[in-house]
Amino acid sequence: MATLLHLDSSLWPEQASTSRAVTAAFRKAWEEQHPDGIVVYRDLDADPVPHLDSLAAVAGLTDPAGHTPEQTAAIARRLRFVEELEGADAVLIGAPMINFTVPSTLKAWLDQVVVQGRTFAVEESPIKGTPVYVVASRGGSYAPGTPREGFEYVQNYLQAVLGDMLGMEVDFIVPELTLAHVTPAMAELIPLADASRARAHEDAAVKGKSAALKAIA
Ligand SMILES: Cc1cc2nc3c(=O)[nH]c(=O)nc-3n(C[C@H](O)[C@H](O)[C@H](O)COP(=O)(O)O)c2cc1C
Repeated sequence: MATLLHLDSSLWPEQASTSRAVTAAFRKAWEEQHPDGIVVYRDLDADPVPHLDSLAAVAGLTDPAGHTPEQTAAIARRLRFVEELEGADAVLIGAPMINFTVPSTLKAWLDQVVVQGRTFAVEESPIKGTPVYVVASRGGSYAPGTPREGFEYVQNYLQAVLGDMLGMEVDFIVPELTLAHVTPAMAELIPLADASRARAHEDAAVKGKSAALKAIA
């Protein structure tokens, strides 16, 4: 059965969140191709996963045969998140920019699923090559050539973790300048912001459909 893992991490509900609206458009296009498909959904803001602590980190690095009951419980919790990731044909992540990088809730999820010998630093990883679509909304613009290009730690970071560490195929949809409508100093950027949002919705519809068709092929 085709399976999409969908994560959102915006602080705001869908009517006020650009990333949630765009992930919803992607998911709708995916579901149109897979009316009976499975969508595993996590709202990391409403229902955050725990931060990685020393117990769970050590449990991920040591032989299960020697685990204490607490370590056994900690690794079991991590592996539930890993199994959701491994079971997905495609992954969709809403990753709004917060202080130049991803929300801490998304970072917490990533720290849980990067498990040495299982998803990372392993010969045969079931998630290697899995497509992951990231909706990277941001209030400003960090596009190449803009003054703040060097402050971009969402795409650079996620490409490093999802792409380089986990071996996934990362694709970004980037609605930018989302603060133009509420920031007087950005008023002249409103047409660019609107165009970026429209493009993101179009991209989401196209990529949601093509991700679904890949799962069929
Ligand atoms: C606490 C906070 C910090 C933010 N930091 C940045 C930032 O560093 N750079 C930026 O371009 N936008 C920043 N923004 C704006 C958001 O990235 C922007 O509102 C975006 O649309 C968020 O996606 P969402 O609408 O899906 O929540 C910040 C917003 C909040 C609430």
